[in-house]
Amino acid sequence: MILPITAYGHPVLRKKTEEIELNDPGVQQLIDNLFETMYYSEGVGLAAPQVNLALRLFVMDATPMGDTVEEFKDFKRAFINPYIIEESGETWSFNEGCLSIPGIREDVKRPDWIKIEYYDENWVLHEEEYTGIPARIIQHEYDHLDGILFPDRLSPLRKRLLKSKLAAISAGKVDVNYRMIFPKK
Ligand code: NI
Repeated sequence: MILPITAYGHPVLRKKTEEIELNDPGVQQLIDNLFETMYYSEGVGLAAPQVNLALRLFVMDATPMGDTVEEFKDFKRAFINPYIIEESGETWSFNEGCLSIPGIREDVKRPDWIKIEYYDENWVLHEEEYTGIPARIIQHEYDHLDGILFPDRLSPLRKRLLKSKLAAISAGKVDVNYRMIFPKK
């Protein structure tokens, strides 16, 4: 099922997310919905708060980026109750966007390397290391679980320059092909 996506300013995007109960049978349907919604809205990652659920879960699929880069082929994952346990390496800039913040893209700086622990859709526990763009997608989605959005990571000046655009998104002035849920006025 394709779900509507919460827009910048919606309170759920700032909420503390809760862990999903181990072996929760409902999680498979939720993961399917997240993937379906993500593909429909042409994203490479989607976190539960973006479909109005304050849960520790996100999905990603970097496969569409894989036409040119071999490392992204077959890069589809669901991350249940993930925790980044280490993050280091050189900080680098990458142009990020977010389905909750349509029409805005900004260069964001993050460390290059992460180690993450999570359960997959079959409740198998993994500990994996990522670098480069896969790490970047994970870091962005993981931030959603802590109520952090990419503009939070910009310089005060960049933030100030974005202020009116972000306010317009919260007010419902967006031009997207997917359904969105806006904050109540
Ligand atoms: Ni996002």
